[in-house]
Amino acid sequence: MSLIMKRNSIRNFIDKPVPSDLVTKLLESGMQAPSANNQQPWEFIVVDDREILNELVKTSGGARPLNTATLCIIPMIKPGDKSPLFNIQDLSAATENILLEATNLGLGGVWIGVYPDPVRYKHIEKVLNITGDIHPFCMIAIGYPKNQRPIVKRYDESKVHYNKWGK
Ligand SMILES: Cc1cc2nc3c(=O)[nH]c(=O)nc-3n(C[C@H](O)[C@H](O)[C@H](O)COP(=O)(O)O)c2cc1C
Repeated sequence: MSLIMKRNSIRNFIDKPVPSDLVTKLLESGMQAPSANNQQPWEFIVVDDREILNELVKTSGGARPLNTATLCIIPMIKPGDKSPLFNIQDLSAATENILLEATNLGLGGVWIGVYPDPVRYKHIEKVLNITGDIHPFCMIAIGYPKNQRPIVKRYDESKVHYNKWGK
């Protein structure tokens, strides 16, 4: 089974910190993502402090996995000079790379949606003292899985169209 088919969202974790060499591998994978005009319009905040994680849980109902995650990586959108229209796609590619690398390393994780919801990104900016033209894109809750979830295959041939729409 390919790595892509092994990944699914993990939302419950055991109380075991992610070692710093694995954190570096996760960040390397994020920064290896393709980006429009190779602008790499990102920065990353790494949170492993329990008190700060507890504040980030309050971002939204969907942020509950941070109750047990020992690590949160927050990719941030920092607009480049070229191709700003594609920033969201650039950051999405970086986020998925980190999730795939987490699976590869025996970790688990889940994408917690943030940007462009101003209520969510402003809460995180307040907690982490972020100012200026840079915004949290999402939060990736990461840790050692408490339990594995079964993989559900989603391939649906009816959604595939060859050459022209509807065919
Ligand atoms: C943009 C985006 C936002 C998401 N936000 C949340 C979230 O706030 N909380 C959460 O638990 N999962 C969140 N997810 C994870 C999805 O719920 C999950 O990917 C989806 O249910 C498919 O399941 P799988 O990842 O296990 O394949 C988000 C995923 C994406 C791509």
